Amino acid sequence: MLDQPFGISMRPPAERAAVLCGLAGWLPPRVVTNDELSQRLDTTDAWIRTRTGIGRRRFADPGQATSDLAVEAGRLALASAGQEHVDAVIVTTTTPDRSCPATAPLVASRLGLAGAAAFDVGAVCTGFVYGLAAAASLITAQVADSVLLIGADTYSTIVDPHDRTNAIIFGDGAGAVVLRAGHADERGAVGHFDLGSDGTGEELIMVAAGGSRQRSTPGPAEPQDRHFTMRGKEVYRHAVTRMAASARATLTLADRKVDEVDHLVPHQANLRILRTVADDLGLPAERLVTNVESVGNTGAASIPLALADAAAEHTIRPGERVLLTAFGGGLTWGSCLLTWPTLPPIAHPHDSGGTQAP
Ligand code: UT7
Repeated sequence: MLDQPFGISMRPPAERAAVLCGLAGWLPPRVVTNDELSQRLDTTDAWIRTRTGIGRRRFADPGQATSDLAVEAGRLALASAGQEHVDAVIVTTTTPDRSCPATAPLVASRLGLAGAAAFDVGAVCTGFVYGLAAAASLITAQVADSVLLIGADTYSTIVDPHDRTNAIIFGDGAGAVVLRAGHADERGAVGHFDLGSDGTGEELIMVAAGGSRQRSTPGPAEPQDRHFTMRGKEVYRHAVTRMAASARATLTLADRKVDEVDHLVPHQANLRILRTVADDLGLPAERLVTNVESVGNTGAASIPLALADAAAEHTIRPGERVLLTAFGGGLTWGSCLLTWPTLPPIAHPHDSGGTQAP
């Protein structure tokens, strides 16, 4: 069933690769604990921790939009790369500031990058891996010499606060990387990709209203259709099988064995899912990078935030091989293999929003 006849399998060309040269994460200040959620929802800290591994998450303040988080992460990533300019800015998000226009041009301008090409990528929780493939392709195709890619989401703006299953999972945040042109044998070279989708699973993760499907239907949208919905159990099963299969496909393409992977950095969906994927791949638990306990599921921001956490804590070291894998609405999935570069010290995302997590 998982043998896909289609999809993207991408190898980096030897002569010109995209190289990771800047990284940052940014979290809004407001920490929301499980106990706080338990005061207004029929749930408990114990249930949330046991079923998801999540202990707390951050929520954007009222009036704070995705671009506000994206700008902060983008600014820090540019500083980390020691760069003031890039040729292109890509924002990947499920919670754009508006349905029109895209969020990236605004973010670019606010970063002093007006004039750069700027566009959004939508692939829900796989957005960062899709965005990374788009950014790397701009560089390998010699269309750009440098790209800022930002994964940012404010799920607190679309999740029904009374929906106990989804309200406990999602958090807000942003993570960003800068890529420059370099060589495939350099540390930091972004390597092989596997990307795929299955739109027959559209209804498993969706916001029903707000798009042309609803607008072309007579009558106003029902209030509940404006909220994010997810059929958790089915999504869980797809997430496990798709992330593991995509990770394997990427390793096969790169002609690497699983024991050559130093760190698996999956989309931080749910700790049980992440452990099952690592187990399925035969990777020891200590090679699994996870920060879901402290941030929850931050959508397109989740992988760069996990990378920034791990880099700040020196869990990932230069020269180590890192495998990213993600799954999200669409359905979409994707994986990428890279070697870790030498980066300047990365600030811990938990210190970035102004409040230390408890
Ligand atoms: O980012 C994209 C990818 N997203 C994911 O991969 C998320 C995938 N899904 C999940 O992480 C899990 O399915 C959830 C965390 C969403 C739910 O966990 P579950 O273990 O699949 O629980 P469930 O939906 O099967 O519900 C089990 C029980 C139900 O009660 P009954 O019917 O057995 O009496 C739920 O009503 O748990 C109940 N429940 C809760 N109880 C306390 C659901 N949510 C809660 C809650 N607190 N927050």
